[in-house]
Amino acid sequence: MTIDTNVVLAILSIVMFGGLVGYFLFLMRHQEAAEPEREVYGVELLEQHYEPGATVEQPTPYFVAPIPASPDPLEISANLDKKILLGGLMLFALFGMTGLYFVIQGFASPLYPDGGIRAAAVEHQLRLDVRRGKALYASLCYDCHGRDGRAGTNPEGQVLPGLPLNKDAFKYEVLKDDPSALDTARRLIVTTIQRGRKRAEPAYSMPAWHRAEGGPLSDWQIKQLTDLIMYGSEEDWADMPHVREEHAQPVAEQIPPPPAVPSGDVVAANTCAVCHSFQQDRPSTNALAPNLWNYGAVGPINAELKALKDSGDADWLAKWVSNAPEVKPGTAMPAYGGQLGEDGVRLVVEYLLTLGK
Ligand code: HEC
Ligand code: HEC
Repeated sequence: MTIDTNVVLAILSIVMFGGLVGYFLFLMRHQEAAEPEREVYGVELLEQHYEPGATVEQPTPYFVAPIPASPDPLEISANLDKKILLGGLMLFALFGMTGLYFVIQGFASPLYPDGGIRAAAVEHQLRLDVRRGKALYASLCYDCHGRDGRAGTNPEGQVLPGLPLNKDAFKYEVLKDDPSALDTARRLIVTTIQRGRKRAEPAYSMPAWHRAEGGPLSDWQIKQLTDLIMYGSEEDWADMPHVREEHAQPVAEQIPPPPAVPSGDVVAANTCAVCHSFQQDRPSTNALAPNLWNYGAVGPINAELKALKDSGDADWLAKWVSNAPEVKPGTAMPAYGGQLGEDGVRLVVEYLLTLGK
């Protein structure tokens, strides 16, 4: 066990403080014994008796304090100087140690070779954050981002909805020499966890987790997750299935059901309306993209697409929406097969073929 300098200093301070208080208590006691409460003498001396007309030499009333036997008050007050001095010294020693602590905590020492107490405290806090981050990850993120944080496919062969988080582009060790990349990575991670990332259905969205976004997590908890992602070691990630077991949750990812597949017009409104218009009297936002309000009646428009349809391919429009650049190389219409998935494409195609009919 290493001895924590903080603890030693704290114990020393408490002992000193106790000594100080004890010492003053002792002095007060001592003083009480040295100067006991006394009756007032000499009042009776004032009671004089005179005969009428007698001339009496008036004695001057005076007061004589009895001289106590022991202890000698002069002796006590002589020591008092030294005692007060000693007490003062102890008090200043307390201040001194506090100051010393602030000075030495930044430096490396035999007990803390890697940059002193402060660095050790930061490291300790970081390990604590990573550990809490693991518990949060295991219960909230595991099912989408995977037991090893790498998403992709799990050992059972299921495709997980999330993206890899345990990757070099997020790691402090990899980024530490590039402060701006480090800052960008941290901000991307924090913002994504806070606000989530909405994807058009039927794709999975990254949920928003911050309390301000209606989620369950505080700033501090989001920091703990971020610290796990940036500072977590391979052992931390490999430990994740055990954390799940500790929380009595299954090791296999429980992939949440995919978001409800919306109807074709919703897909079109969410995904296609950024370029295309679906209303007769409104031009498309993107001048190159045709207005599709009557596409079911007039389509296809492009020679390439017409040729594909004429070849008897029943999937001509699905092929276009999934991957237009494959049908017409160089077109400005992007591919949507990946984002919408088969179901999404099928729905929007069915919707397009009803338009204008
Ligand atoms: C419902 C599944 C789901 C859950 C649960 C989930 N995520 Fe995600 N997460 C996603 C998806 C999907 C994306 C990708 C979004 C996109 O398309 O850009 C993502 C993206 C991210 C990203 C951005 C990655 C990148 O490379 O841009 C981070 C960081 C992240 N998630 C962290 C978390 C954390 C931390 C938790 C737990 C608190 C969590 N996620 C829980 C689905 C999920
Ligand atoms: C980034 C803008 C953009 C988005 C978003 C977009 N398109 Fe297009 N789309 C275009 C452009 C540009 C064209 C014209 C392509 C050409 O003629 O080369 C086009 C053409 C089309 C055509 C006509 C093809 C033909 O020649 O008959 C259809 C149908 C179509 N898009 C469907 C969709 C659907 C469905 C979506 C949503 C899933 C969508 N587009 C999203 C830009 C876009």
